[in-house]
Amino acid sequence: MKDAAPQTIHLKDYTPFGYRIDSVELTFKLHPTATRVISKIAFAPNPAASDTRFFLHGEELELISAAIDGAPVTPRKVEGGIEADVPDAPFVWEAEVEISPETNTALEGLYMSNGMYSTQCEAEGFRKITFYPDRPDVMAVFTVRIEGDQPVLLSNGNPVERGDGVAVWHDPWPKPSYLFALVAGELINHPDSFTTKSGKEVELNIWVRPGDEDKCAFGMEALKKSMKWDEDTYGREYDLDIFNIVAVDDFNMGAMENKGLNIFNSSCVLASKETSTDANFERIEGIIAHEYFHNWTGNRITCRDWFQLCLKEGLTVYRDQMFSGDMRSHAVKRIEEVMILRARQFREDNGPLAHPVRPESFVEINNFYTATVYEKGAEIIGMLRRLIGDEAYRKGCDLYFDRHDGEAVTIEDWLASFEEVTGRDLAQFKQWYSQAGTPRLKMSEAWDDGTLTLSFTQTTPPTPGQTAKNPQVIPIAVGLIGPNGDEVVPTTVLEMTEAEQSFTFEGLGARPVASVLRDFSAPVILEREIDDATRAFLLAHDTDPFQTWEMGRMLAKDTLIAMIVRDAAPAPAYLDAIRAVLTDETQDPAFRALVFGLPSQDDLAQTLFDAGITPDPQKIYDARESLRHTVARHLSDALPTLFRPTEPGTFTPDAEGSGRRSLSLAALSYLALLDGGAAATSLFAQADNMTEQAGALQALLSAGLGTNELQTFETQWKDDRLVLDKWFTMQVASAAPEKAAEVAEALSHHPAFTNKNPNRFRAVFGALSANHAGFHHDSGRAYKLLADQLIRLDSLNPQITARMSGAFETWKRYDADRQGMIRTELERILATPNLSRDTTEMVSRILSA
Ligand code: BES
Ligand code: ZN
Repeated sequence: MKDAAPQTIHLKDYTPFGYRIDSVELTFKLHPTATRVISKIAFAPNPAASDTRFFLHGEELELISAAIDGAPVTPRKVEGGIEADVPDAPFVWEAEVEISPETNTALEGLYMSNGMYSTQCEAEGFRKITFYPDRPDVMAVFTVRIEGDQPVLLSNGNPVERGDGVAVWHDPWPKPSYLFALVAGELINHPDSFTTKSGKEVELNIWVRPGDEDKCAFGMEALKKSMKWDEDTYGREYDLDIFNIVAVDDFNMGAMENKGLNIFNSSCVLASKETSTDANFERIEGIIAHEYFHNWTGNRITCRDWFQLCLKEGLTVYRDQMFSGDMRSHAVKRIEEVMILRARQFREDNGPLAHPVRPESFVEINNFYTATVYEKGAEIIGMLRRLIGDEAYRKGCDLYFDRHDGEAVTIEDWLASFEEVTGRDLAQFKQWYSQAGTPRLKMSEAWDDGTLTLSFTQTTPPTPGQTAKNPQVIPIAVGLIGPNGDEVVPTTVLEMTEAEQSFTFEGLGARPVASVLRDFSAPVILEREIDDATRAFLLAHDTDPFQTWEMGRMLAKDTLIAMIVRDAAPAPAYLDAIRAVLTDETQDPAFRALVFGLPSQDDLAQTLFDAGITPDPQKIYDARESLRHTVARHLSDALPTLFRPTEPGTFTPDAEGSGRRSLSLAALSYLALLDGGAAATSLFAQADNMTEQAGALQALLSAGLGTNELQTFETQWKDDRLVLDKWFTMQVASAAPEKAAEVAEALSHHPAFTNKNPNRFRAVFGALSANHAGFHHDSGRAYKLLADQLIRLDSLNPQITARMSGAFETWKRYDADRQGMIRTELERILATPNLSRDTTEMVSRILSA
């Protein structure tokens, strides 16, 4: 049933539920189109609540029967669920409902994927399984009985009974309904075990479809490392006898932290060197850690309501980032994080979808699992830690875990733990959660006889619904480098709290160069007058790897902007700096590869727009291509030495190997512009790993070559869904601007294309919207194609449709013609009969800009 008029939910309207739950017993009788779910729930009045309305959420459920304390009742149907009259004393609610997993294409609730049953309940999917107070502040102990002829039947918690066609699971830890999970199917496990620091043995399993069992070992290692890391770093141990991970092919997100039963998009857990790239391995390690870490940050302590989402997501992203840094390289990881933050969160924060890390209202909560909640949410934790120090951070976390274990809490509760251990007032800091928009930090410098003064002003531009902005607390990490290249003042964190503020460094011998916002100490845009010579100096001498990379990136950006707006030639300062870094064998190859990377077209478009210039996507594309050719020629002597394929049989998916390959493949993509594709063609033929096979193909495609290799790749991998996704993506991503829509459209008619699998849909249409010049080609063909596809997808899978409509969020950057074409498409989407609440909200917000 569709909502008549979608309601807006407000943070300020929060009230506790009128009843607590003492126990939940669920029985599932599995059937593809007629699964029966029988629930028995012990409720008791909640003395802390004033609202005693007994309302249970329920969507797309067929009610078979209901009873209270054994007496049949007929609940009243109301918007989004049912209501009933209940005693003013503890009572037992029983209900039986019927649902149809096979026809559930939204992939929310209980659904079928490749013959197996699986669930996805966060955020509000449990209401599609049975009638229940489907809100995170209602926590309960669940016992689940599954009846089905599948050989493997899984749910949360510990197994208590296993018989022919039946399994019973009991989860002793109270949890909200969004953490419920059930899996049933023909699955094979990759088993292992882990002994916790207090000596408890935990059974570990990764469950996959037959045929995928050789792709579990890497994920299992990542899981064990995560368990150990959380013990060592946060003192947090695992708390059940068993931990299961299941790989599912059709999944909207990357993965889900259901208690004791994490469910993963198969692309985020299955790994082998033949089928996974280094980037895949890194992602898999990080996401396994992320979902595991939720066991404490999200599950044992959860969110009072969905406005507090960053409480679990921002914090858990921060934790997985630190884990990945410890496993690999903090320097490289930080640069990658900043690239993602700018590409996704700054983009969001500077457009019509900007919202605070803790939003004040929403129509559909699924639309708020955003870069802002996740990435900016993680940055806030990093800033807090910078401000209070490592020791106080750990103490505050310990207090938070102790005090709130088993509770559903708020950002206020989180901050109060840190106020208590530090004695600090975090009231101003808290604005990071409520104020949307990216602060602009302007800096100027003055030198006076041994004293350096750094003066800053901060302003945050208006965002939808928030015009006036207050000054924020900004930790600015600064170091000073003397003229001879030595660091004269090591990293110091300046704490800016005012709109304008100055900081002085005294007793300096000669005028130093300031390295500002080291390690990207705050999610702000730093505007600083700085000449090429100073940048080159910092690039050569700064001890902070983020700053070094940043200086190289700024040189590249300025060069490109000058090429775009003034038809300038590529700046020699940039070319020389690049050569120096690339050929410096003392530096980490992964870092050198990052310095080698050019800013994205989308990044350049935003930079131009910010400077008051309407970006021309074709011009941006041409300038970037022209710079690629210039760099290739300029480095032609160095490229052959930088290109170093992995010796066959020696591949390891660690940071070291991956760093070497990323530098080697970056060199290869330039080499392909000079040697007619010879080196890439031979690597493609010889590579024994996907990183280099795909990297070689990518290098050929971006040089306008590789037609035969594309064919070979398809033939070789046509039966591997995950690798075939790469084949789809690469073609769209590397298509020339005038060809991109045509290529994507043709691929959407390929027999292996389906819009029922989110990975496949994203492989083609996610790639189309990421092909900047192709998506914004002045024919408008890509806009129309994407809109057609979204309209078709919406009735099947509203979540993916809504998420992908974000492709249009930057529309106000472009010229009137493009804006007109995009408006037409957005209005066409919005006019679709029965458009989902998810997509309606997103498209309306984008249009309201
Ligand atoms: N809890 C989320 C999964 C989720 C997101 C469920 C949205 C329902 C709606 C999970 O912990 C998560 O955040 N997954 C991320 C990956 C992570 C490494 C940031 C994802 O799925 O992309
Ligand atoms: Zn998460």
